[in-house]
Amino acid sequence: MRKSLLAFGILTALGTVLTLSAQYQGTRLVWIEQNSGETLPEFDSYDNFYGKLGTLNASGEIKTDGHPFFTPLGTNGRACVNCHQPAWGMSVSAESMMERWRFSEGKDPVFAAFDGSDCPSLPQDQQSSHSLLLNRGLFRIPIAWPPKNTDGSPKPVEFSIEVVNDPTTCNNSREYGLNSANPTISVYRRPRPTANLKYVISGGSPSVAKAGTVAVDPETSKPVSMNLMSDAREATLTTQALSAIMGHEQASKQPTREQLEKIVAYESQVYVAQAAHHFAGAFNAPGAPPLLGMPALRDGKPGVLAEKDAVFGQFENWKTSRFDQAAVARGADIFMHRTFLVRDTAHLNSTGGGNPVKSTCATCHKTQLTGQDLSAGWMDVGTTNIRTAVEPAKVAKSELPVFKITCAKDAEPHPFLGRTIYTTDPGRALISGKCADVGSIVMQQLRGLAARAPYFANGSARNLRETVDFYDRRYEMKLSDFEKEDLVVFLGVL
Ligand code: HEC
Ligand code: HEC
Repeated sequence: MRKSLLAFGILTALGTVLTLSAQYQGTRLVWIEQNSGETLPEFDSYDNFYGKLGTLNASGEIKTDGHPFFTPLGTNGRACVNCHQPAWGMSVSAESMMERWRFSEGKDPVFAAFDGSDCPSLPQDQQSSHSLLLNRGLFRIPIAWPPKNTDGSPKPVEFSIEVVNDPTTCNNSREYGLNSANPTISVYRRPRPTANLKYVISGGSPSVAKAGTVAVDPETSKPVSMNLMSDAREATLTTQALSAIMGHEQASKQPTREQLEKIVAYESQVYVAQAAHHFAGAFNAPGAPPLLGMPALRDGKPGVLAEKDAVFGQFENWKTSRFDQAAVARGADIFMHRTFLVRDTAHLNSTGGGNPVKSTCATCHKTQLTGQDLSAGWMDVGTTNIRTAVEPAKVAKSELPVFKITCAKDAEPHPFLGRTIYTTDPGRALISGKCADVGSIVMQQLRGLAARAPYFANGSARNLRETVDFYDRRYEMKLSDFEKEDLVVFLGVL
């Protein structure tokens, strides 16, 4: 446990303008170690650049001593909490990783060779071997290729994968790579928040057209939302927890039923959201936008499409003369109402609705309170596929591995990129084996963003401004500098 000097500094500087109620009054910015034995209160808060992040344990205080989310269950000393920290929105930021590296001299189990380094074969004591985690907050996700059916037989796939360039060395490694005894593709991804999960798991029903076959909960055989993980490879929180223990924690024996249940129970009651903005004030103050902050998430109904009400509620009361409140309210309006043309986006423009199609941010980010999709939420907005692969310089410069995907002649092609695609992460296609899915990523919840930069599954946007710049470029939105900043301020209060 340790206070961050930086956050302390910001707080001292802003101390006079903070008007926060007692429940948010902590000034901590702390890393929770595995086996720390701490008790986590019902309400807690942590400083960040934009204000304060709040956490809410709806079941009351959490005793972490011996709790399977906070206790290593495998062989590398890691627990879930190493990568899913309350202070960082139940994820971690790249900055927190760098701080942790310095503090522990690279010894914290979060840096375990298996997936906390660019590749386990690299010299582990060197900072450069963990560059993707330290600079981009990315963990290695090893995925067996080709994917397997539940009975262990190889799934039929529509394309072959070639490693064009891999600065991590892992995909070309004899021990860990595509040509190893257990052929594996390593992609590098951000941890997704383990909070507000009732919204993530309760979609409508996933569309069969998109999913091929619909995934079901292996225990109840009921269809699941298919919104867990960047590629929807996990059906439920229980299968996810089991995989995380066997993978990230490198367990040699399976966890008990009781351990899995306790993990899922904890994850299902923790809510995380920004709780205050340095200048706009605390979100539980009278007149604050009603859906900001954690209590609204605790009390809200999952699975509601924002049709009548806005995705993140009304901001009318903040259309005031207070500069920062007004900026948030303007950003909310842009998110909900500013239209632009979305084009060449697989699983949006390829489903019969037209290409291009007039959209807003909320056309895709449309589920109330989290801004996800209600059906299987994967799409190729263009974060991982390299459309300009004819520029070899761009490929050569990538910090991430670059793959060349060649689809079979009779396969349904990627709707906008055809049958030869260069990508840094094939996304859903690594699980479905479908050419049309290459580069499709399941959208994440848009909560607690201020605490967990960088953004997008591959960490390609270093800060919120870069996410906005990405959309401005990608969909030629022509936002002014002021509009971009308003949108950033808005994303920062979620
Ligand atoms: C080494 C870091 C690490 C550890 C340890 C870890 N996770 Fe994760 N977690 C990740 C990453 C990275 C992802 C995103 C993977 C992807 O998108 O393919 C993730 C995703 C998730 C998600 C999906 C959330 C969503 O919205 O899709 C859940 C739930 C989760 N982890 C729970 C757990 C649990 C429970 C444990 C402990 C048993 C655990 N994690 C341990 C890194 C970690
Ligand atoms: C065509 C659908 C679509 C539209 C329109 C869209 N998004 Fe997204 N958004 C996505 C998908 C899919 C992802 C996940 C991409 C990834 O991780 O690679 C995403 C991810 C994000 C993230 C990153 C979240 C995280 O945790 O890393 C932010 C922030 C975001 N979008 C904001 C916006 C804003 C602001 C707008 C409007 C300017 C917008 N989006 C418009 C589909 C869309």
